[in-house]
Amino acid sequence: MYDVNLIRNDFPMLKKQINGKPLIFLDNASTTLKPKVVIKAVNEYLEELTSNAHRGDYDIAHLVDLRVEETRANVANFINADANEVVFTSGDSMSLNLVAYGYGVCNLKKGDEILVSEAEHASNLLPWFKVSEITGAIIRYIPLDKEGRLTADNVKETITDRTKVVSIAHITNVLGFIIDIKEIAKIVHEKNAILVVDGAQSVPHIKTDVKDLNIDFLTFSSHKMIGPTGLGVLYGKYELLEKMEPLLTGGGMNSRFNMCGEVKYYKPPRKFEAGTLNLEGIFGLNAAINYLRNLGMDNIRNHETEIRSYAIKKLKELDNVIIYNETAESGIITLNIKGVFAQDAATFFNSYGIAVRSGQHCAKNLTNFLKTHSTIRMSVYLYTTKDEIDTFVEVCKKGGNFLDVYFK
Ligand code: ALA
Repeated sequence: MYDVNLIRNDFPMLKKQINGKPLIFLDNASTTLKPKVVIKAVNEYLEELTSNAHRGDYDIAHLVDLRVEETRANVANFINADANEVVFTSGDSMSLNLVAYGYGVCNLKKGDEILVSEAEHASNLLPWFKVSEITGAIIRYIPLDKEGRLTADNVKETITDRTKVVSIAHITNVLGFIIDIKEIAKIVHEKNAILVVDGAQSVPHIKTDVKDLNIDFLTFSSHKMIGPTGLGVLYGKYELLEKMEPLLTGGGMNSRFNMCGEVKYYKPPRKFEAGTLNLEGIFGLNAAINYLRNLGMDNIRNHETEIRSYAIKKLKELDNVIIYNETAESGIITLNIKGVFAQDAATFFNSYGIAVRSGQHCAKNLTNFLKTHSTIRMSVYLYTTKDEIDTFVEVCKKGGNFLDVYFK
């Protein structure tokens, strides 16, 4: 294990005061704080190596090329993929759009089925709605069990011979259950369909091995794993990437073109990387992955589990708190304070320096399941402490005073 109090010194944001109180950042499912090594790596690009990648015949451009490919190999190693299966994108949403348009639109036809779940966030639904609109493929929803979990049994009951794509989150962003991807992959592959896994909430928190899980496509964002914003990853099995069309075309992804409009694309992954990449982001992601690896993904997971259990135990002692996902395994806890609108509660938490998300968390279909319009989501990460949870719980207790914040 690592010493959480020691590593907190690595995160400058944790020294920040909000409303005269130390920042307690419990919105880690939305984005995460950055350690100094990541900030330094971003600055290294900006201060010492600014130049474009894959285009320059001079020293600094060559060094940037090397770092881009070093990062690609580092990402690949982190998820047990091959380097040529790692595509840099602008984020998880762009990665999912790339699969939907690049694979879905080109390979699906009228009457084919795309299976998703009610718990998916917008980025893993809206691109598939577009594929359905363009191709005539049908979207079908895999039912959740009574707790809100997507189970392999429910996938088995919903999948048919017409299913071509199953696209689901490894950890859902509101309910926070860890889904049995390995088992689901077997069911999906028996039907010769492909499995797209949205790893935005899982890759930063649990060890992810694409080969062991037998995932066809995996998507995730750098900023949810202590890296910079504006950068994401699409992993795809190489033979599938080869079958995919680029969503964006332009410089950096072609080896030649002529005035007749004939274009020769590079092979994947560069075929999907039109335009200048987010280079400072790539420098930062490389440092972020090294940092996570040094701490150890198992240690991070154990730390989050301990903090989650502590928080659930403390919250259950309060009779004014409704918890919607008590049995989930991840660091996401979704709740409401009885009689208080979630957004008012979030504003009140902010007056104590606490950052949480409120609303529907981009998963608008889930309101039917939760039977409430909005919730508060608190989500922990590798730097969250029990003291911070204690403060959060103390503020929850002040339920009756929630409106006082407006009259301070
Ligand atoms: N999907 C992100 C979240 O859950 C933005 O907050």
